[in-house]
Amino acid sequence: MDNPGPPPGNLPFAPSPGMLEAAAAIVARYPEPRSATLPLLHRVQEENGWISLGAMRWVAEKTGRTPIEVLGVVSFYPMFRQAPSGRRHVRVCRTLSCALRGAEDTMRALEKELGCKRCETTADGAVTLEFVECLACCATGPVVQVDHALHEGVTPARVPALAAAVRASLSEKDHGLRPPVPGSPEWNG
Ligand code: FES
Repeated sequence: MDNPGPPPGNLPFAPSPGMLEAAAAIVARYPEPRSATLPLLHRVQEENGWISLGAMRWVAEKTGRTPIEVLGVVSFYPMFRQAPSGRRHVRVCRTLSCALRGAEDTMRALEKELGCKRCETTADGAVTLEFVECLACCATGPVVQVDHALHEGVTPARVPALAAAVRASLSEKDHGLRPPVPGSPEWNG
């Protein structure tokens, strides 16, 4: 049987020219290269959407750390992703204020409306649905973040409209590029 080779996330990382330039500038900012670990990881995720094992090895080389140390950093911070997310990333705050205001019910409603279980991505790669910790909008929970936009007071009654807007946005080429419209997945507030 042929050797299937390493999984895609474990392939050597091929940084873009922009990434190489940014990495050199980031590392040069600090007296110790290891201090550049977090900003470099942010840069990788910003460009690629997630951080593969190959990318972690590359960051380790740039910062003089071991790959396992970089993996330790990536796995410690929930904002770092070790797998690609869907085209729309839906995050439900589950910290105390939002939990008391019904975040669990909101999550259940989103699971039903989006056809996606929590902590999973739909089979077609359209939507990732996750719980996250405080989104810093505690007085107006339950708070849901769709990509970069916050939606406040997302009760289960408001979920069908939000889910429909998220689904509709999948076919919009200019999603995230136009001025946000209240209630749209890009609306911040
Ligand atoms: S507790 Fe949900 S935004 Fe702070």
